Amino acid sequence: TYVVTESCIQCKYTDCVDVCPVDAFREGANFLVIDPDECIDCTLCVAECPVEAIFAEDDVPAGQEHFTPLNAELAKLWKPIIERKDALPEADEWAKVESKFDKLQR
Ligand code: SF4
Ligand code: F3S
Repeated sequence: TYVVTESCIQCKYTDCVDVCPVDAFREGANFLVIDPDECIDCTLCVAECPVEAIFAEDDVPAGQEHFTPLNAELAKLWKPIIERKDALPEADEWAKVESKFDKLQR
């Protein structure tokens, strides 16, 4: 499966959503996750994300491994998002911030 990681937090550009053939994305207030039960490993979403937040499960950067179980957990709680929408208002500023896990709204 593919996994959304820290870069997405407070940005939520949503370009990824439009290309997913199985509508695997789930939306929270300031983050998206991929439902591992839906993702078919097509890889299409990876190149779409302007902040490179999406990785194959086996390639999640060191220190961000916890995002794999987090995607699975939140996918059960959050609703599908199937169309692109505007990014969060301060997305371009937050895109430059590396550590923002404490901002994640569940
Ligand atoms: Fe959807 Fe493909 Fe990305 Fe999986 S890898 S979330 S199937 S676009
Ligand atoms: Fe997030 Fe990147 Fe998608 S910022 S919403 S994973 S395009």
